[in-house]
Amino acid sequence: MGIQITPSMLASDFANLEAEAARISGADWLHMDVMDNHFVPNLTLGAPVIEALAKVASQPIDAHLMIEDPDRWAPAYVEAGASSVTFHVEAAAAPVRLAREIRAKGARASMALKPATPIEPYADMLPELDMVLIMTVEPGFGGQKFLDLCLPKIRRTRELIKRHGGDIWLQVDGGVSVETIERCADAGADVFVAGSAVFGADDPDDMVSRLRALGASAQGSHAGRHVH
Ligand code: DX5
Ligand code: ZN
Repeated sequence: MGIQITPSMLASDFANLEAEAARISGADWLHMDVMDNHFVPNLTLGAPVIEALAKVASQPIDAHLMIEDPDRWAPAYVEAGASSVTFHVEAAAAPVRLAREIRAKGARASMALKPATPIEPYADMLPELDMVLIMTVEPGFGGQKFLDLCLPKIRRTRELIKRHGGDIWLQVDGGVSVETIERCADAGADVFVAGSAVFGADDPDDMVSRLRALGASAQGSHAGRHVH
């Protein structure tokens, strides 16, 4: 699979979301960080804001739910217009049922893991998912430093995805920039969230292109080394 870039709108101007989305027309998705002040110590936005942006943006919405009780709340984000909905497995009471419900409602189902959460206990549920999100910072805030300790888990997750077959995307989120994207792509990630790197750049759309090019070349070298 090719490289996809999904800028985090958390780093954009919340007073001008429509215009901010238009500044990154080359982005594959718009990453929307939903925080509830319980699962993480920060409060951002909910389904009404996603619904408003989905109506005016040209890119599809990738909703990242950092909330308690996603079993109860996640389906409403599909109804609000998100094309991909990510829940945290640490917060989900019944992740298999939830993933099936998200898919049944018509969105891609995705499961997120905090830095200290291992992937191995969830290997058998990979076929229920369209994407796995490996957090590379503790969720809650933009602008944090990338955690290199997550790289082995990205690699192991890519191996598990290969073993189970299926077209499951592997997303990374947190501290992704021109400094760190190659490490992630080399480890097997193919969908990249970047907030401060994109919106902190003079030309956000040009940064999207730069990140895509760096990711693609690192992915290419990865594929080359592991031919068998
Ligand atoms: C953090 C959020 C991220 C955040 C990334 O909890 O999930 O999506 O916006 O921001 P950067 O790219 O600045 O680390
Ligand atoms: Zn996020």
